[in-house]
Amino acid sequence: MIELERKPFRERLAHQYSTYLSELEAGYMMGREGCGPVAKIMQYKDLHTDDFKDVLVFGSNSYLGFSNHSYIKQKVKQAVDAYGIGTGGSPAFSGYTRQHHELEQRLAKLAGHEDAILLPGGYMANLCWVNGLMNRKDVIVYDKNSHASVINAIKMTGVTFYSFDPENLAQFNKLLAHIKNRTKGEAQIFSTVEGVRSIDGTIIDLAGYIDVCKSQDVITILDDAHGIGTVGKTGKGTLEYLDLMGQVDMRMSTCSKAIGAQGAFVSGSRELIFLLRNFSYPYLFTSALAQPTVAAISAALDLLETEPQWVQRLQENVSYMQDRLENAGFEIIRGVSGIIPVFFRKDGVVRHINKALYQKGLFANIMEYPMVPPGLERLRLSMMATHTREEIDTAVSLIAETAKEFDVL
Ligand SMILES: Cc1ncc(COP(=O)(O)O)c(C=O)c1O
Repeated sequence: MIELERKPFRERLAHQYSTYLSELEAGYMMGREGCGPVAKIMQYKDLHTDDFKDVLVFGSNSYLGFSNHSYIKQKVKQAVDAYGIGTGGSPAFSGYTRQHHELEQRLAKLAGHEDAILLPGGYMANLCWVNGLMNRKDVIVYDKNSHASVINAIKMTGVTFYSFDPENLAQFNKLLAHIKNRTKGEAQIFSTVEGVRSIDGTIIDLAGYIDVCKSQDVITILDDAHGIGTVGKTGKGTLEYLDLMGQVDMRMSTCSKAIGAQGAFVSGSRELIFLLRNFSYPYLFTSALAQPTVAAISAALDLLETEPQWVQRLQENVSYMQDRLENAGFEIIRGVSGIIPVFFRKDGVVRHINKALYQKGLFANIMEYPMVPPGLERLRLSMMATHTREEIDTAVSLIAETAKEFDVL
């Protein structure tokens, strides 16, 4: 990888494109083309023909099925009529409206914080807080499995950074003490972890992590992209699930996953959000979230408040799928959210299995090196509240049948 980075641009391009072509042959399926609303059954383009066919979707982040929910669509249509389709400006200039303000207040309340700001996506939200809070004198200590947006934001902002393993909090504590010593207490340390972890759907010892951070005066930011709408009694996310509401300094959640729309928010104290609102370039210099999307997020929050059965159904489906996979003999990680990793423990096999599943009508995703360490490649199933028991049974049968064909079950 490093050798490739050093090559001149044209050589790098030729190498990367030819690698891509050979990977396509081997079953690389990024960019599969869908058609129609995002739902548990969707039309996707066949890999070998131009025909679209129905596939059973176990690979969408729309965990609650809200991307195609009739109530939300109705609210969006009304918003289009009332406000049009775009904001025509950044929040700092002309793009900020009463609807943005009201939604931000609602999101702050949901997060248990004083204030919140809306951004056009989770990637931008992570750029926003890194860029808005820190300067080159500060230090960030991030979970080694953090999302690409966090790592990219850190590199772009040029802050000093360290990664850590949240499974080892004693080591984390030592690292913080070492940083304080090295910087003679002059640097502010920030730290970030995920709530429900995107990599495997589990949650770290968040209470222990927060205790360590508090004891070392570290400012904490929780990325709860996969927690909102999937865990907690009323879908408020990981902090509600663990009874830790209000215990982190800031929180980021996307509205592109369980909320079913697009956009994201960052919440925190009035002072911290003031800093982002007035000084963070990724907030100041991009157009405010479009009004129909603001309406979609608000409508999704209505549903979370009035129809708790969505989160409950998702949870029931997750447990049912985990039981069925384990009974069929699969090695899985039993997390608490909509993400279920399935391991086959044979080098390179997961992409072939995934391709075969797709051809049989099952859409799932995979994680391979460098997203996960070698040996930990996995099929990554994403559950939806709208899946029926029958559909889950069909998915398990297809995975079992295919795993047997590849001699890994
Ligand atoms: C943990 C985490 N943070 C941030 C993001 C980015 O969110 P968005 O898709 O809204 O840009 C993702 C998306 O995959 C994610 O998994």
